[in-house]
Amino acid sequence: MNTLEAIAKRKSTRSYKPEQIPEDALQTILKAGCAAPIAMARYDSLHITVVQKQELLDRINAVTADMIAQMLGERKNVDFGAKTLILVSSTPVHRPGTEYTNAGIVVENMVLAATDLGIDSVILGGAPGAVARDAELMKALEIPEGFTPLLGAFFGYGADQAPAKEHTIAINRV
Ligand SMILES: Cc1cc2nc3c(=O)[nH]c(=O)nc-3n(C[C@H](O)[C@H](O)[C@H](O)COP(=O)(O)O)c2cc1C
Repeated sequence: MNTLEAIAKRKSTRSYKPEQIPEDALQTILKAGCAAPIAMARYDSLHITVVQKQELLDRINAVTADMIAQMLGERKNVDFGAKTLILVSSTPVHRPGTEYTNAGIVVENMVLAATDLGIDSVILGGAPGAVARDAELMKALEIPEGFTPLLGAFFGYGADQAPAKEHTIAINRV
């Protein structure tokens, strides 16, 4: 699959089969994340956590559902059944906000690599936000001191294969 095909095929998958992704695919996805461009080459400001233990995935889904219920006043199913979650955490950097950009680029590299490998994904802002509010969970996930989870993604094999949606963003040309 070429890059443009992977970009066009990537889509958010919110229902997964129970199979785990292969270890070599996980390593390729992580390598793609680590290859991301990072502002001022501050690779030390980032940390990647791979979560595959079911007990931890269940705890993350539970705190995410609680956080969303508090925010929206309604409970949503956030347990999509994926068996791999990757969280990207950052320390503060020189210009506030840049850490989110960095994390976004790392995650996008990973989901595009996954698409290339035939692995489905969904980018997550909610789950890392919920994890960041739970000190015990942060400890259980071994996220180093000073790092905050900013973005993540689930990876797996989609239970249904809906095509990618087409999106448009307003463009002006001057
Ligand atoms: C920064 C960011 C945060 C997101 N957070 C969530 C999330 O917490 N839960 C979720 O189901 N989807 C989340 N998404 C996925 C978007 O909802 C999705 O990309 C968008 O609806 C477009 O659909 P598509 O990915 O299928 O093209 C997030 C996407 C981005 C870029």
